Amino acid sequence: MHELLAQLKRTALAELESATSPGELEGIRVKTLGKKGALTQILRGLGQVPEGERPAIGALANELKSAFEVVFARCEKELKKHELAARLDREWVDITLPGRPRPSGGVHPVTRAFGEIIAIFTAMGFPPASGPEVESDWHNFEALNIPPDHPAREMHDTFYLPPGPGGGKRLLRTHTSPVQIRVMLERKPPLRVIAPGRVFRCDSDLTHTPMFHQVEGFMVDEGVNFGQLKGVLEVFLTRFFERSLPVRFRPSFFPFTEPSAEVDMGCLFCEGSGCRICKRTGWLEVLGCGMIHPAVLANVGIDRERYSGFAFGMGADRLAMLKYGITDLRAMFDNDVRFLGRQA
Ligand code: DAH
Repeated sequence: MHELLAQLKRTALAELESATSPGELEGIRVKTLGKKGALTQILRGLGQVPEGERPAIGALANELKSAFEVVFARCEKELKKHELAARLDREWVDITLPGRPRPSGGVHPVTRAFGEIIAIFTAMGFPPASGPEVESDWHNFEALNIPPDHPAREMHDTFYLPPGPGGGKRLLRTHTSPVQIRVMLERKPPLRVIAPGRVFRCDSDLTHTPMFHQVEGFMVDEGVNFGQLKGVLEVFLTRFFERSLPVRFRPSFFPFTEPSAEVDMGCLFCEGSGCRICKRTGWLEVLGCGMIHPAVLANVGIDRERYSGFAFGMGADRLAMLKYGITDLRAMFDNDVRFLGRQA
């Protein structure tokens, strides 16, 4: 039995020394000193040992236990130290590296421009209204004094849709002007409204996208005149661009206004001396406008003898690009989060 105990001690201690993890150490402990362990097995034969020798064996067993515990504690401490070192090595973070922020977006420039335009016009008594993007031919063209064979239809490369349930001709609205028609049909003058929204034309190149944004505006009341139109647009442009620039009205043609004008403002970038953005003219074209054609008023049942009105329409993408200094129209619709991040 002496020999058995001595041997157990040698093998157990040797195993402890060669263990590679605390888990393994624990396994050796259970196997050696546990209830069903090797020591218990050996001590079961104590009955066969002459009584006089038993105390010596007991002492030997105790000595084995305490030697085991000493070695166990030392090995455990070392292995834990190694384990921690390995973990620190694995999970090492270089806190001196500059952080890499996640790409963050921002409000799209068109949404920002819409917000600012709505705020300015609402303050002048023109609250926003909206209409459908899928429109009838009548609202988009005919009611606006553009009959089917009118050459002005050429200006709008229209996306036509299959006829609706009622058989009427449908299309993606080519401008926000049909909202004028809808509002004038629904409400009675005096009217003051703006209509921001998406519009669609079958056109795509460096300066055109098939979907773009417009803001329509109009006012109908007794005695509305061109001078008021000029005043409203000049105030708007000054507030939107946050500076006072020269504004000029050039005679033009739109079927739904008479007279019609296009509005230019002094170039924001060269202040009139001529640059690439204003094509050396010193002027930037920003709006179309005019007095609402009496035929349009008649189409929606407004007394053209009693009432008059003005209307205007602007490209929100272009205004946003001018205001925020964006040079590539297509970047507006690429959906690249870095572009939005730069706009924030
Ligand atoms: N609807 C025109 C377009 O898309 C823009 C426009 C011009 C609207 C003159 C108006 C206006 O209300 O008076 O080309």
